Amino acid sequence: MTTFRYATDAPTAVAADVLVLPVFEGPEAGPGVKDVKSLDLLALYRDAKLKGKPGETLLVPNTAADELAASSVLLVGLGPKAKATTDTVRRALGRVAPQLAKRTSVVTTLAQAAPRGGEDSVQAAVEGLILGAYRFVAYKSDKGDPPALETVTLLGVPRWDAKAAKAAIARAEIVTAAAVWARDLVNTPARDMTPAVLATAAQDMAKEVGLEVKIWNEKDLEKGGFGGILGVGQGSANPPRLIELAYRGAPASQAPIALTGKGISFDSGGLSLKQPEWMETMKCDMGGAASILATMKALALLKPKINVIAAIPSAENMPSGSATRPGDVLHHRGGTTSEVLNTDAEGRLVLADALAYLAEQNPRVIVDTATLTGACMVALGDDIWGVMSNDRQLTRDLIAAGEATGEPGWELPLYAPYRKLIDSEVADIKNIGKRYGGAITAALFLAEFVGDTPWAHIDIAGPAFAEKVGDYWPKGATGIPVRTLVSYVLSQAKKPARR
Ligand code: BES
Ligand code: ZN
Ligand code: MN
Repeated sequence: MTTFRYATDAPTAVAADVLVLPVFEGPEAGPGVKDVKSLDLLALYRDAKLKGKPGETLLVPNTAADELAASSVLLVGLGPKAKATTDTVRRALGRVAPQLAKRTSVVTTLAQAAPRGGEDSVQAAVEGLILGAYRFVAYKSDKGDPPALETVTLLGVPRWDAKAAKAAIARAEIVTAAAVWARDLVNTPARDMTPAVLATAAQDMAKEVGLEVKIWNEKDLEKGGFGGILGVGQGSANPPRLIELAYRGAPASQAPIALTGKGISFDSGGLSLKQPEWMETMKCDMGGAASILATMKALALLKPKINVIAAIPSAENMPSGSATRPGDVLHHRGGTTSEVLNTDAEGRLVLADALAYLAEQNPRVIVDTATLTGACMVALGDDIWGVMSNDRQLTRDLIAAGEATGEPGWELPLYAPYRKLIDSEVADIKNIGKRYGGAITAALFLAEFVGDTPWAHIDIAGPAFAEKVGDYWPKGATGIPVRTLVSYVLSQAKKPARR
């Protein structure tokens, strides 16, 4: 366990294995670099032919023992000074986190590197260090060395509020622990992360942090009319579940924020079977569910004054003699019927039930997140989630929360004229449109189930699972959009509800 502390000491005065200092593009000295008088750190950096670009680092041993309490200095490139933001800080520390995890003690001025940053840069610094050091080794015989890092000292400036900086550290620890947990749930192979296992993990978490929890099994789902969840799950030997959670931070009279996430523990496509290459990463198809569970966990620990409920559908989408067939009609919670023309468009079928169930409870807003469509990846690429919503303010709030946390999102239109693309000959609605606009027709399908509740759908098919190493994640689950959602809920707790 690493202890993070906040101080305003001089960078040269703190004893540690490594003093981490920022260098801007030029190279140009960042905060602390010029404090070391007996070593010309910038000249050494320049001599190594480094320019201060992101990823350009130089480790300098301390040959000025008297002046400098740290044993070595790690200079890290940040890119142009004028463009440095809290996310620059998060990413820079994320990149060096694996090597810092091998040291015992670290001190850094990185939190001072964002010109417009304050205590929020302290939060970003801690997030980068924790998220960047994450490795998934549960299934490796050789688990490598366990992290050695015991203390990290984050240096701020006297004009910052020390109490706020310490609160920022605590927030970062809670939210990153939640995001790391979400990554573990997603990275765990589907064989070991069935709907029942996910439900048990949720139950254990709820008990640990003090959330209300209810697990719906197959029988309960039948009684409740959850035909979408049952229809998707019926081809699998691992039966579906619905995970219900509640956090109460405000009087019961206040309408809650409602959350849901797609929990397909494995998506083979069902009888509309995927090609093998497309199936390789489909253990990630419960990434939405994992991020809602993690969000609820973080909220239970952060204790904002707001009510939040969640209903998370989980099923395994498999082909078998008992699987749903193309052409079958499912009866969703609330009575809407859907014609399943492609069993690989399963996410919307399970979410439909959960959205209808949440809408019954008159929440102030509903937010869902799902690895829903390849089309959203085509539109926005690997890094950016898409948001489709019936509410302008909610869209703006979510995009702002994503921007603040360094998890970028962008809006795609919930374009009403495309609704006719999912008209069905036999049921109320069909589960596929045409190939073009696939992210939007998927969202229009979901919209059928929320009534007039303000609602937003976040498609994370791109950013939930990384096929290449990122600044603060290895290949695999990223934990997106946990920090966005936590930040969104915290921001709403400070505002009066609109309904
Ligand atoms: N889980 C997939 C979407 C997905 C693709 C997530 C790639 C992450 C990475 C989803 O269930 C799916 O199969 N969607 C289909 C829908 C189509 C059949 C209408 C798709 O996007 O191709
Ligand atoms: Zn899927
Ligand atoms: Mn699918």
